[in-house]
Amino acid sequence: MQILSDISELRATLRQLRAGVDQPMPRTIGFVPTMGALHAGHRSLVQAARQRCDIVVVSIFVNPTQFGPNEDFSRYPRTLEQDCQMLEAEGVDVVFTPTAEAMYPPSASTFVDVEGVSDRLDGASRPGHFRGVATVVAKLFHIVQPDLSFFGQKDAAQVAVLRKMVRDLDFPLEIIVCPTVREPDGLAMSSRNRYLSAEERRQALTLSRALHAAETAAACGEHRASPLLQTMRAALQEEPAIRVDYVAIVDPDTLLAIDDVDAGGLLAIAAYVGNTRLIDNVLLASATGNAIVPGKKKS
Ligand code: PAJ
Repeated sequence: MQILSDISELRATLRQLRAGVDQPMPRTIGFVPTMGALHAGHRSLVQAARQRCDIVVVSIFVNPTQFGPNEDFSRYPRTLEQDCQMLEAEGVDVVFTPTAEAMYPPSASTFVDVEGVSDRLDGASRPGHFRGVATVVAKLFHIVQPDLSFFGQKDAAQVAVLRKMVRDLDFPLEIIVCPTVREPDGLAMSSRNRYLSAEERRQALTLSRALHAAETAAACGEHRASPLLQTMRAALQEEPAIRVDYVAIVDPDTLLAIDDVDAGGLLAIAAYVGNTRLIDNVLLASATGNAIVPGKKKS
């Protein structure tokens, strides 16, 4: 496994790997962008890439432009050595660890704004966040030039923003979305879970419990958004220490609120447990088979 931080060196290495030796066909590149502090959620993306692509590239870059001024950029966990051990064990070919100076030279003044969708859900609570995400991922796509890039359903709004960016700007790649990996008790895995005290860790379970309650109600035939929202809010209120940021039922592509989940929908929650902001979601399939398939044009 090669660990490279220089952009030109990475490009040259990937050019060679892609051509291969005695390969009749150019080889495919699978790409998993991350901010490190890797856990089993990230591992599932790497495994999906390993299964589907000839060459697997993982980036580790704590991207300053997607953090707000009062957010956790400086204390975001950085565990490069352990991360690389895990990636090596998963058969990754190349790890890209650029510096902030290389990604954002002082003169850089070009940004990618995916208008509309970037202002919804997390974008509403974290102004500028998705501009930072879209800009860094666009740059990483240009540098790595993957055929497939793998993202987690855990960050559903990020998926909506990046899918739209890929479509709007004609990036020649496919985005693959992998299911949310959870702890055995249901908590969605997150690099930020390590901020939680034992008591907060227990309180954090309320998010997945609330989603599960609404998912069960929908499976039992309740398709109206308003009672489903009420179910989630009631479950969250059972833990008074939690401060809710948003509870929403939206179209997974546009992130706009929907009135019913007949054609499926995204149930999404963001909440503060102590000082830690956690997000979780459940994607509901259609009851009728006429599903909202994220990323597909609606009929
Ligand atoms: P990061 O939070 O490190 O996540 C990297 C990828 O792992 C994302 O696609 C995220 O959705 C996925 N992921 C995180 N937790 C997961 C879980 N429990 N199950 C499945 N997948 C999970 O997301 C980012 O980094 C950044 O915004 C990035 C895209 C790298 C741009 O800086």
